[in-house]
Amino acid sequence: MLMIDLKGKHALVAGVADDKGYGFAIAKALIEAGARVSVGTWPPTWNIFKMLLSRGKLDDSRRLSDGTLLTFENIYPLDAAFDTLEEVPEEIRTNKRYKDVGDFTLEGLVHNLKKDGGEKPLDIVVHSLANGPEVQNPLLETSRSGYLAAVNVSAYSLVAMVHRLAPLMAPGGAFLALSYLAGQRVIPGYGGGMSSAKAALESDVRVLAHEAGRRHQVRVNCISAGPLASRAASAIGAIDRMVEYVAQNAPLGDKLTAAEVGQTAAFLCSPLASGITGSVVYVDKGYHAMGMPRDQSLL
Ligand SMILES: NC(=O)c1ccc[n+]([C@@H]2O[C@H](COP(=O)([O-])OP(=O)(O)OC[C@H]3O[C@@H](n4cnc5c(N)ncnc54)[C@H](O)[C@@H]3O)[C@@H](O)[C@H]2O)c1
Repeated sequence: MLMIDLKGKHALVAGVADDKGYGFAIAKALIEAGARVSVGTWPPTWNIFKMLLSRGKLDDSRRLSDGTLLTFENIYPLDAAFDTLEEVPEEIRTNKRYKDVGDFTLEGLVHNLKKDGGEKPLDIVVHSLANGPEVQNPLLETSRSGYLAAVNVSAYSLVAMVHRLAPLMAPGGAFLALSYLAGQRVIPGYGGGMSSAKAALESDVRVLAHEAGRRHQVRVNCISAGPLASRAASAIGAIDRMVEYVAQNAPLGDKLTAAEVGQTAAFLCSPLASGITGSVVYVDKGYHAMGMPRDQSLL
């Protein structure tokens, strides 16, 4: 029997702060496949997430197929906008949500991972984070700082993570990022430079696959996922309509679940996908293949 077997592997999923998004579903699938999973959580949500977990608020979502509850190896504070503490503006460093969490930069993450797991603590890294402060603005009305903030957090952070984390991985390791069709096609409402960030992310996946593949023998792939009403996506405003529209018009007519993205992620991060790198894999019920909305009279 061919099975996804991640026993003995340690994964970091960056961008988990509740049970509603793709990061949580991917973490769960990796654990179902036998991996140990740590998460990276944005400091403003770090304490709330830990409280939700400890108070049992996420227990339904944490339930695994064998009846036990999913647990994370570690919950690391991570603001992927920053490489080192020196570059963090004073008002963020002293903010009440940041000042007591320790070093939340990528350098701090590397330090924490090595402290907890030695020189090669990782096998899998999932980049499941994005932020576009002006996502509700059309690109035409996006400020320079809003655009650069979107690209910094949502795209450059992958470059920085591969740069800093690939040396912590044994050969055969796998990176995975999450993209959206808006990087390839026009999605009205997905503004603020987020479409630009996803286009950059997909291009970076290809270039990083080559560079980190040759230098560190790791793979870099990306899932282009269909719309999901996660916490981040609710900032877009029209997410429920987007989910409905895809269900009505995709080749497969049922709603996409986060678990389906999680299962594909587990495959792509597993040795079964050892020949796949530099790829954008669509997990969207086939919506990306359509050229016009479905029309009953034409079927
Ligand atoms: N929800 C969708 O419709 C959809 C579709 C395709 C792709 N995606 C992508 O999936 C990924 C996960 O998003 P999601 O929709 O599941 O939402 P989510 O809210 O579960 O995840 C986004 C996470 O990013 C974190 N984050 C924001 N800024 C950060 C920063 N500076 N440093 C570290 N973490 C930060 C948030 O705290 C949150 O945990 C994103 O890359 C998103 O663009 C989402």
